[in-house]
Amino acid sequence: MEPVLLAGVASVFLVLLSKVIPNNLSRRRTLALDKYCCFKVAGICTIPVEISGNECLFKIVEKGLIGSLLIEGSICGLILVNKPVKTKKAIRKLESSIISLEVLYERYKMDKHKHQIDQLRHQLTEILRNNDPIEPYMLLLLCAKNDTPIDYLLRNIESRLEPYNCRFSLECDNQRLSFRQRKSVITSNRVLTNKIHTQLRQVFTLSRAYMYSGISIGTTLRGSRQVILPIIGREGTLHTCIVGPTGKGKSTVIAKIISRLNSRDLGYMNFFIIAVDPKGDLFTYLDQLYGNFEKRMIHDDSMYRELTLMEENKELVVYLLKGSSEDKQKTILEIIENTIESTKIVHNNRITLLAIDEAWMIPRTKILEKLLREGRSRNLSVFLASQYPGDLSDIVWSNIGNIIIFGSRSKKYLEHIRRYTGIDEKFLDEISKLETGEALLRYPWSSTPIMVRIL
Ligand SMILES: Nc1ncnc2c1ncn2[C@@H]1O[C@H](COP(=O)(O)OP(=O)(O)OP(=O)(O)O)[C@@H](O)[C@H]1O
Ligand SMILES: [Mg+2]
Repeated sequence: MEPVLLAGVASVFLVLLSKVIPNNLSRRRTLALDKYCCFKVAGICTIPVEISGNECLFKIVEKGLIGSLLIEGSICGLILVNKPVKTKKAIRKLESSIISLEVLYERYKMDKHKHQIDQLRHQLTEILRNNDPIEPYMLLLLCAKNDTPIDYLLRNIESRLEPYNCRFSLECDNQRLSFRQRKSVITSNRVLTNKIHTQLRQVFTLSRAYMYSGISIGTTLRGSRQVILPIIGREGTLHTCIVGPTGKGKSTVIAKIISRLNSRDLGYMNFFIIAVDPKGDLFTYLDQLYGNFEKRMIHDDSMYRELTLMEENKELVVYLLKGSSEDKQKTILEIIENTIESTKIVHNNRITLLAIDEAWMIPRTKILEKLLREGRSRNLSVFLASQYPGDLSDIVWSNIGNIIIFGSRSKKYLEHIRRYTGIDEKFLDEISKLETGEALLRYPWSSTPIMVRIL
């Protein structure tokens, strides 16, 4: 046995085994279980479910379902056994399957046969290219948490995988779980393993955010796992950039973040929040959110309009700069800089959050770059929203931790995302499919972004 990856993250554990030949190739394989029909891994009752079906494995890997099932917590792990096959044998087997399907297609002209032929041809090309054929064998591990009935877990996973022609062969009888011999599939080791690795990376990426103090910004797009935006960790605060075309939800997400800052997730912390709004939307959203707030003040003068709110552990000042000249805006930025400096001296146990909507409209001064550079060690977390990544300078980008990326099909926008955000290029395509309120979240520790529904 050669374990390639064995890792544990909260209740998620992943086991990926390579080059392991199952020692029992009899028609029925069995596994000894305890009296509850599960085997224990780190004290967790675990039920292995073998998935089979000609196309099932390929389809669920292709659709990214392994990653999302792990992220959602529907499965808590998997065992993948990549059994090597001789190249000649693999080619023979694939070619004979293709011929049989071609005969069927000739006779019935069914799309599903055509699709299967294309898929097998693709497998054949990959095997010839990589010379690494395998017969993959996968067990999904269901974990019974809080006495969830096993039948319920099984039904749940069966219904999720139903559209992919997956079959489950699972019988739990006399404390033995038996798997029926399934029809094997052949594929290239490199192709399958790369795809699964990408999905596993997303699981680890998401799990790491739980090590930070942060707030929930929504759920995974194709699941229901909470997505955390980290704000402060052991190394200091994190800055966040929000990019997206008009109307996609930038101001909304800032308002949501601000309104949740006194949530229990951030425990005992005190917040001083300064929101800068050159356009008016953020001011309106916050004004609506805090509409019935008792301790609120509105201050108007020729320079700006200011809304101040005090909550239990939160003080919020919103500057509406609409209509003020560049000189006035510069003066306000200086006031903000001084306020942040003095706050640091008076309250060193506070987190200051500076949120700037439509950051491209703010006059370019050194103040912002200075705050970004020095802020991390001074409990200052900066949030910047803008339409194009290129609106912000390289110095700004080099100090940004989290990036929330909204969707657009614009080539120019996608090119900016590629250039500035460092996300893995294979996710660029996903950006063009995002709807309003949906985004990719790139954490500072990974180029693999998480797809999130902002709630
Ligand atoms: N998470 C969300 N879920 C559902 N609808 C949303 C969400 N976020 C925004 N919207 C809808 O989209 C509209 C525009 O949102 P918002 O003003 O936040 O976009 P924006 O990106 O800031 O746009 P602009 O660049 O014009 O300022 C909102 O009025 C709301 O109806
Ligand atoms: Mg806006």
